[in-house]
Amino acid sequence: MEGVLDVFTHEHRPKLASSHKKYTDEIVPSGSPFRPLYDAEILFNGQPVALVVAEEFEIARFAASLVRVDYERQAHVTDFDAQRQRGAVSKRDPAHSTKRGKPAPAFSQAAVQIKAEYRMPVEHHNPMEPFAATAMWEGDGRITVFDKTQGPQNCRNYVAGVFGMPRDKVRVLCPYVGGAFGSGLRPQYELPLAVLAALALKRSVRITLTRQQMFTLGYRAANVHELALGANGDGSLASFRHDVIAMTSQFEDFQRDFVNWSSLLYRCANAELGQRLVKLDQNTPCDMRAPGGAEGMYPIECAMDELAYAANIDPLELRLINYSDKDQVQDRPYSSKQLRECYRQGAEKFGWSKRNPQPRSMREGNELIGWGMATGIWEAMQMPASAKAALTSNGSVEIASATADIGPGTYTMMAQLAGEMLGVPLDNVTVKLGDSTLPDAPVEGGSFTTSSVGSAIHAACRAVQQELLGLARKMPGSPLARAKFDDVVFAEGKIQHKDDERREVLVADAMRAGKIDRVEREASAQPNEDGKYSHSTHAAVFAEVKVDEQLGVIRVTRMVNAVAAGRILNPKIASSQILGAVVGGIGMALHEETVTDHRFGRFMTHNLADYHVPVNADVHAIDVIFVEEKDDEINPLGVKGVGEIGIVGTAAAIANAVYHATGKRVRDLPITLDKLMRD
Ligand code: MOS
Repeated sequence: MEGVLDVFTHEHRPKLASSHKKYTDEIVPSGSPFRPLYDAEILFNGQPVALVVAEEFEIARFAASLVRVDYERQAHVTDFDAQRQRGAVSKRDPAHSTKRGKPAPAFSQAAVQIKAEYRMPVEHHNPMEPFAATAMWEGDGRITVFDKTQGPQNCRNYVAGVFGMPRDKVRVLCPYVGGAFGSGLRPQYELPLAVLAALALKRSVRITLTRQQMFTLGYRAANVHELALGANGDGSLASFRHDVIAMTSQFEDFQRDFVNWSSLLYRCANAELGQRLVKLDQNTPCDMRAPGGAEGMYPIECAMDELAYAANIDPLELRLINYSDKDQVQDRPYSSKQLRECYRQGAEKFGWSKRNPQPRSMREGNELIGWGMATGIWEAMQMPASAKAALTSNGSVEIASATADIGPGTYTMMAQLAGEMLGVPLDNVTVKLGDSTLPDAPVEGGSFTTSSVGSAIHAACRAVQQELLGLARKMPGSPLARAKFDDVVFAEGKIQHKDDERREVLVADAMRAGKIDRVEREASAQPNEDGKYSHSTHAAVFAEVKVDEQLGVIRVTRMVNAVAAGRILNPKIASSQILGAVVGGIGMALHEETVTDHRFGRFMTHNLADYHVPVNADVHAIDVIFVEEKDDEINPLGVKGVGEIGIVGTAAAIANAVYHATGKRVRDLPITLDKLMRD
């Protein structure tokens, strides 16, 4: 076709690396990563097999529709349940398994017993902004790529590996990212394809994925959980067994920690937890919003609810009876754990004490009302990270670090942190992120950016402060001549003595005296790995649902999420994170599901008309509470990070509310009205 520049396939492309290692990235699972346009083997339906590049996007799309591909047919397996029934399941993964005490006899002797199976379907991330990459041909052996990603350095290293280029010849930028939820943690195929075409054509190339193509990338794996809980008459847990089977691809073993959460939350001497995988002819699943925690805590918290009814104990009371002050997997205490306070403040705000424990006991007109609750827990992680801080004599501050801002307000957070430390107003702080040439930083993910990059900025600003104090001390007749670092604060462009604020020096004067107009420091921060404490964030989630008795329509009318996550640097931004995550939890509970057509092994839910997410009409009152939690162990900022904690437990709280409203326990998500009305 006129306007078509080239059609790339595995038979017609520039040279690509041949070893598995060159295709790995920061968060690669074990196995052998997918290689776009590498060879003739088809690994999953939706795999890109040809790339049409044209002068215009419309021409490229039309030309791509004319491409005919001949396939040799081979049998495929995409049916998770069928494979499971055939016993095509891996052995328990020792890294994600725990056994303590004697769980089997403890279960059979328990006064109260619960056994149930819960399931979650495939879910797709669906950020508003689809994936896209613009590879800019620089003509001098360098390539610059604007990519949608959570990790520009992760992508730079990947491109360097796949195309055999030195890392300093590759620059990846993602200054603004329109959401990702984990889908942009690993490099996606638009990136190597754009680079491949740019290298071959010696000109700049942009690739933009359609919404349909967004369903050919990673996704949250479908998973099935078998739980068996035994309790004594007083509600104390006697035995906790939790087995999960999750799907993965044929070529990579992707899994996260689905099962160990109960050991972090509930005291129980006898436990057996394990996870297994089923391999399917699909693309590899990937991290999606609180990966492992969101999936694992849904069945744990529903089973605890079922146990509460069986033992005739209030669900919140049952959590308190079994409250654990230590991490029973690592056998160590927490650096901080204000979960009791989350339960108390959340329950009070929600009005939990007014709940009639009887299912189907509360109604309003045609609607049954249900109140449910659940616990949330997420890892408080920190990764090694670096940042640069610079202060100029006119009082402006520049901060730089390579990590991305995928939407949680990282630019604002980092500006606030630096401004507070160096005593300049927020407007005077410029933050540079999302550029692989900036100081080394991890992908933005895991709710660890504030703890990781924030700690690095803290260290860099501290180094700048030290330099400035040194200059101030050396000034002739300095009022701070003998001041030590801990004696002073930086505020309003000045260095002030804590004991006597009249003993102060203008930062600008100190710099002038030292004959410099810029102080710049780069610093790194490492996680505290002394192993003395476990670190988690916690939440107590309360939900109210109203269910139309005749139609089965469920509305989530009220949610309260009380979170303990260490120091909250910016309550407005942090609470936005929890709101968004709770909305994600409503989607998980009631809407989201990707359906597979097993004849073709293809995800057939591949647009936003079929793949449902909560919209405004589905989201009512959401209250976010931050419980005060002081943590001096975790990092100098006392920060644990928020975001993903907001989704963990939310689906369970809603499912438990639906049971309380209707007396019907739906154990496979999403809870749609057909499941609710089925006998
Ligand atoms: Mo998150 S799933 O680490 O983007």
